[in-house]
Amino acid sequence: MKQLNQKVAFVTGATGGIGQAICHALALAGAKVVVGYNSSKEKAQLIVEQLPKVGGEHQICFAKVTDSNSLNQAAKLIDDQYARCDILVNCAGITQFVAHDDLDALDDTLIDTILSTNVRGAIATIRAFKPLLSRSDDALIVNISSIAARTAMGSNIIYCASKAALDNLTISLARALAPTIRVVSVAPGLSDTEFVKGLDQPWREQQSALTPLGRLALPEEVADAVVAVATHLTFTTGAIIPVDGGRPIR
Ligand SMILES: NC(=O)c1ccc[n+]([C@@H]2O[C@H](COP(=O)([O-])OP(=O)(O)OC[C@H]3O[C@@H](n4cnc5c(N)ncnc54)[C@H](OP(=O)(O)O)[C@@H]3O)[C@@H](O)[C@H]2O)c1
Repeated sequence: MKQLNQKVAFVTGATGGIGQAICHALALAGAKVVVGYNSSKEKAQLIVEQLPKVGGEHQICFAKVTDSNSLNQAAKLIDDQYARCDILVNCAGITQFVAHDDLDALDDTLIDTILSTNVRGAIATIRAFKPLLSRSDDALIVNISSIAARTAMGSNIIYCASKAALDNLTISLARALAPTIRVVSVAPGLSDTEFVKGLDQPWREQQSALTPLGRLALPEEVADAVVAVATHLTFTTGAIIPVDGGRPIR
């Protein structure tokens, strides 16, 4: 396996269940990890303290993806601190449960909030980090999308659309930024984070039963896919990599 020693990775949404697992897996593979946080600074600090220090020191960094100024500051901080960024993981994302036929509950504010975080946020982060990534001889962007992009089943219809937009961006940007930067989506199925564990138990069990592999994704399995793109799938760009236990084929 190609190790990530000497590489610097920046993860947005790193304080969430999946983001934390990604930081851990990247650190274990040797990367220095910059843990991007929005509202959870203390949690970010705790995560950094618990990351394995295989390839060097990690640190936290404020990065609100809906605020381009904070993203430019984040890129500057990483440039000043490490003078490089090789891997960017766009993991920040939000949603809210709204029944797909309840269009009144899906008001304009909620639509704008989801799209500005899940879609514009990813583009803005890539825009801010492109100069730094372009200086790497092995640059990679991983967008954490979702199975919902393909199935149009998920927490609400705009969340599904936001992840479809993200996958589409992966393909456009993979073409536009080649050969300097590879761009890949990792698309999880429902993942067993604290968030999902707190949901209605019969519903969760139903979702497991509807998955051919008979369970939900572990955050660590999503993280392993991100690391695999960096360490093994070195000739892959513009691809959407599912981590969904085969849910769409059921
Ligand atoms: N869990 C699943 O079943 C599942 C399935 C498929 C795809 N996904 C995707 O995987 C990603 C992570 O999901 P998760 O389950 O780990 O979510 P989560 O636990 O709810 O974490 C969400 C993360 O997004 C960050 N965030 C929210 N708004 C932000 C903003 N404006 N700027 C920067 N960061 C912001 C939060 O940071 P703060 O805490 O610092 O505010 C937090 O770290 C998301 O993109 C999600 O759509 C999740």
